[in-house]
Amino acid sequence: MLLSQKKIVLAVTGSIAAYKSAYLVRLLVQHGAEVKVVLSPGALEFITPLTFSTLSRNPVYSDFTEDKNTGEWNHHVGLALWADLMVIAPASANTLSKMASGQSDNFLLATYMSARCPVMIAPAMDHDMFLHGGTQENLAKLKGFGHSLITPHTGELASGLVGQGRMAEPEEIVQCIVQHFHPDLPLQGKKVMVTAGPTYEKLDPVRFIGNYSSGKMGYALASALAEKGATVQLISGPVHLQLSHPSIHITKVESAREMLEACLLHFEEMDMAILSAAVADYRPAEMADQKIKKSEDSLQLDLVKNPDIAAQLGQLKRPHQHLIGFALETTKEKEYAQEKLIRKNLDLIVLNSLRHEGAGFGVDTNQISLIWPHNISQDFGLMDKHKVAAIIVDAAIDLLKKTT
Ligand code: CTP
Repeated sequence: MLLSQKKIVLAVTGSIAAYKSAYLVRLLVQHGAEVKVVLSPGALEFITPLTFSTLSRNPVYSDFTEDKNTGEWNHHVGLALWADLMVIAPASANTLSKMASGQSDNFLLATYMSARCPVMIAPAMDHDMFLHGGTQENLAKLKGFGHSLITPHTGELASGLVGQGRMAEPEEIVQCIVQHFHPDLPLQGKKVMVTAGPTYEKLDPVRFIGNYSSGKMGYALASALAEKGATVQLISGPVHLQLSHPSIHITKVESAREMLEACLLHFEEMDMAILSAAVADYRPAEMADQKIKKSEDSLQLDLVKNPDIAAQLGQLKRPHQHLIGFALETTKEKEYAQEKLIRKNLDLIVLNSLRHEGAGFGVDTNQISLIWPHNISQDFGLMDKHKVAAIIVDAAIDLLKKTT
């Protein structure tokens, strides 16, 4: 996990965007970070400590004294020195001003003043407050202290006005944090779509035509891509796998046509698509409204061709986008795979050999060759699907390097 063993103090101040910080804590914890939350008096008006203690699995700090009767107190210096990174999100205009002028009239500010670690600031306020000379001057001063600023977005604000001041989305803040700890992740900032699993083509309300694809390859690819810093859009057919990663967004589909629709929705914003799904080539010409009853000794099914998702994306592909497909062949393997690569306008095809025991569908291993245009290829031995995923991701990184 990208943030495992990273200690983060998240300081939340008085802004309606405090609700987004609850989700931010969840994402950071999912990434493996240890998070301790500090709330300003203003933040307590918007959100409760219980929300953050539940999500962070740590106590939440908002005051110097824990128990006025016993004199038990919270150690702001200890907390500040514990942190590898302090993130102030949302940072209100008031807190920014106090940070810039060195005021320390609450526990959050005292923790900030004691911090020796890097500080990241995600402001949130109304448009005019953000553009006000005082705020801009404070931000310039804070940048001068070496703090990094996560610029707020333009959009609808809590006041009803439209302008700049919306706190960056939690996913974006996580990206900045990951980038801070891992500045050299090769897929940082890249968006990759992965199709995975089988498609089910309905015959009637209780039956379908499907295949044995488990989705393991696509899910392993999605994880490997996310661990290298990519944001992944996983378009998954029906599988029994679960995946929970803050940088992987899963869209579940059933049929080839639904998979195509989901792919077309996201492809434009992608840098790459990896098509590992075992898409059914045909579907029943008609889906019966009622369960098909048995009558005759034999039954004829009329099938029609499904759209070829890889080929359609191949036609839409723009110069900065890359496509990686899969081929499963039993004869003339490399020749057919090369022909498929050209026909579907792919940049790389992963040839899955069925000739070896332990290779193919529903098993945990694969035996692959990578095939690029002009008959360039590289063969690999029988390997665990996670190792195969790592090899494909390395090849994907090489392809993306060529466009940057
Ligand atoms: N593919 C797709 N949509 C389809 C069929 C295939 O996106 N309707 C993708 C697969 O995900 C894979 C690649 O295309 O990446 C090759 O799939 P395959 O079924 O082997 O290709 P076909 O063109 O169907 O070839 P064949 O004639 O061997 O069936």
